[in-house]
Amino acid sequence: MNKAPLRIGVLGSGKGSNFEAIVRAIRSGNLNAAITLVLSDNPNARILEAARSLGIPSNALPASSFRTKLEPEIETLAANQLADSGAELIVLAGYMRLIKAPLLNRFPNRIVNIHPSLLPAFPGLDAWKQALEANAPTTGCTVHWVDSGMDTGQIIAQASVPVLQNDTPETLHARIQKAEYQLYPEALSKIAAAR
Ligand code: GRF
Repeated sequence: MNKAPLRIGVLGSGKGSNFEAIVRAIRSGNLNAAITLVLSDNPNARILEAARSLGIPSNALPASSFRTKLEPEIETLAANQLADSGAELIVLAGYMRLIKAPLLNRFPNRIVNIHPSLLPAFPGLDAWKQALEANAPTTGCTVHWVDSGMDTGQIIAQASVPVLQNDTPETLHARIQKAEYQLYPEALSKIAAAR
């Protein structure tokens, strides 16, 4: 049973370390997928540089005047570029804006995200800081389907991570990210196999 690789389009705003973990999984044969395009809403994001150095097509979107979402025209442009690249699944990798109708309608139930907490606990920004402030003994990461809410879509997979006594926001986030680099490729692999 040799399925064609799952064609993935990536949206990211930041450093792109989850994107790099996904590329490692593909290149080592652990994930039957191919990345068709990396798009960023931030022209200076490291994820674009990482894509270029890995030889993966990438593009920066035009500047948006909103902070938490894209203008509908810009989101439509993103949806067009991702669809034209042949992407079947959209993977959010550190993408910092809400997904609205243009992308949700073009890729219905085909957008996934990774969030650095055990959802439904600690949705939103700086989830690792929220876990520290709440004195949670355990936190983790969640891969979920994306809907119009913030970190509310159906959960696909989770991994827990202990919160240690001397943790700072940085040490805790780093431990969560390590778990993310495992969980995201594994979850994508299951999605690829289930097609
Ligand atoms: C990750 O911690 C992820 O959970 C959150 O944003 C961060 C992205 O990091 N959604 P990177 O850009 O993949 O390094």
